[in-house]
Amino acid sequence: MALRTPVIAGNWKMNTDIESDLELARGILEQSDAVIGVEKIVCPPFVALASVSELLRGSSIHVGAQNVSANENGAYTGEISAAMLKGLTSHVIVGHSERRALYGETSGDVTAKAAAAASSGLRPILCVGEALEVRQTGNAESFVADQLESSLAGYSDWDALIVAYEPVWAIGTGEAATSDQAQEMTAVCRGVIQNLAAGAADSVRVLYGGSVNSGNIAELLEQSDIDGALVGEASLKADEFSRLIAAAGTV
Ligand code: 13P
Repeated sequence: MALRTPVIAGNWKMNTDIESDLELARGILEQSDAVIGVEKIVCPPFVALASVSELLRGSSIHVGAQNVSANENGAYTGEISAAMLKGLTSHVIVGHSERRALYGETSGDVTAKAAAAASSGLRPILCVGEALEVRQTGNAESFVADQLESSLAGYSDWDALIVAYEPVWAIGTGEAATSDQAQEMTAVCRGVIQNLAAGAADSVRVLYGGSVNSGNIAELLEQSDIDGALVGEASLKADEFSRLIAAAGTV
């Protein structure tokens, strides 16, 4: 069994401005730069990527974007290509449930974004997760397996990939999945990777996301298929995000 380095990634969504982005990044840098044994990622909005990545350059904290275009270049007003992100970020979130639900992104779009990111040398953090109605009908496992399989159709850069299981009903609700539910579903994700690329299943990191905080992180990290967390709300406070990093690494 491969030893997987845990990942703690913060998705700041559309909650900050250029000034507060820098303040937050500075706080995380001060409190968490020295923590070892954990991959730390912050994902500010596009407008702050340049200043935050400048601030964090040379540190142990990586910068990710929250979205990327599937297209290389051209007449796509308002879009940001993977090539534009290069040099600013090392990671990029693709297929977040908010983009799937609010902006109509399909798993086909997500595959294309993941491939565009990887071919520019960025590491995609590919999100999947079921809505409450799906869970209530007992179909969460097959839904997420299908969603991940179709989001990875034709994908080949397994070394770069990080997967995040984020049940929609747990995002921003304060009601995280139980560690048993999260384990069950991250294992489903690993099973899909095993089917698509047997050699990669042991090394691809699979994260849990949805109301992760310093009170539930330890139990989540104890689960054998959970390799870290993708964090929204709790990533917006340097102290709280640094507690998550400390829980996953060695201070
Ligand atoms: P919360 O941690 O606020 O539930 O958000 C999770 C999320 O969507 C991270 O991408």
